[in-house]
Amino acid sequence: LPVPPAATPPMGWNSWNTFGCDIDEAEIRGVADAMVRSGMRDAGYRYVVVDDCWYEPERDADGNLRADRARFPGGMAALGDYLHARGLLFGLYMSPNVETCAQHTGAYPGQTGSGDREFQDARTFASWGVDYLKYDWCSGAGSPRTQRAAFTAMRDALTATGRPIAYSINPNSNFPGAPGESESWCGVAHLSRTTEDIQPVWSTGHRNEHPMGVRDIIEVHSGVNDRPEPGCWNDPDMLEVGVHDVGGYAGLTPQEQRTHLSMWAMFAAPLIAGNDPRTTTAPVLDLLTDPGILAIDQDPLGAAATRTTGGDHQVWVKPLHDGTAVALYNRGDEPARISTALAEIGLSARIHRVRDLRDGRITETADRVTADVPAHGTALLRLDQ
Ligand code: DGJ
Repeated sequence: LPVPPAATPPMGWNSWNTFGCDIDEAEIRGVADAMVRSGMRDAGYRYVVVDDCWYEPERDADGNLRADRARFPGGMAALGDYLHARGLLFGLYMSPNVETCAQHTGAYPGQTGSGDREFQDARTFASWGVDYLKYDWCSGAGSPRTQRAAFTAMRDALTATGRPIAYSINPNSNFPGAPGESESWCGVAHLSRTTEDIQPVWSTGHRNEHPMGVRDIIEVHSGVNDRPEPGCWNDPDMLEVGVHDVGGYAGLTPQEQRTHLSMWAMFAAPLIAGNDPRTTTAPVLDLLTDPGILAIDQDPLGAAATRTTGGDHQVWVKPLHDGTAVALYNRGDEPARISTALAEIGLSARIHRVRDLRDGRITETADRVTADVPAHGTALLRLDQ
């Protein structure tokens, strides 16, 4: 796999979390314009990914995929040109078997999945200027192919196009168990989902079944075996920052949104925004483009945090190329003072310069870091020796 498309965790935007199947080209173009205007693009959110439901239910006479003619009358190549002209990159969704997830629900009668058509479909994507493929398991009952065979087939087809295309897979959708927790996809895909679908809610109480909240995903993701590295990232699903009134959920509080983005940064997770950039408020944009949090996510070392203290008052530590990030995460429902000795997190007890990324406050410490953390909140600290 060529490493350059995902040397650091990919950042972008995806239509699913806010719009679901309710997408069209005017909306995607409007979102792209808003990403430029709002500073999201310049903060690093470059992939614009059109998720499920963009396609005609039937292929053309030669078996080629085509865009839904009512909702994308200009076609996908023109949409790709529109994005590229604005310094953005183009992402598209597809599935490896017969049915996409939307078809799986019975909403579409035809067969669009790329099963056994990988090379033809990858050529189509490349000809449209696609830079990112989200490849979502969705169906496969009765298929003789394993997930590994199916996901590898598309990897080979993308590579054969010669176009650098970031390759994002979701082994979890409509698949019993939680393969992301036990299987490594390094060498197959640039990013692989570790959990079931996220919703804009703190917790549904589920472990790894649909739907999950931010707190639930942090719990499951703590157990992933597959450590990330440049070109191979764990994906705890897309961001619900600024997403509200979806799936019967009002949305996350400001505190919970900060925890969501901060912990995803600690995980070295892809940051794929799910808000509507056309109407997003200033506080949400300030969070999404927070340079201190994004620098922790995009740190070139590409290491993920490990949890050194569990329970309701958690301590997470992530090595950076030039220091250490520490997250003091309050999972509980009451404010708490969270503190840890540097020796407990593997740092020698010499003087450290500690920057609190919430308020920019700098302190010096010889042996401990401490913060008062609101319920569901996270203090994100950057330590330099
Ligand atoms: C399941 C995925 O997890 C979602 O992100 C989204 O792509 C839907 N499928 C689309 O049907």
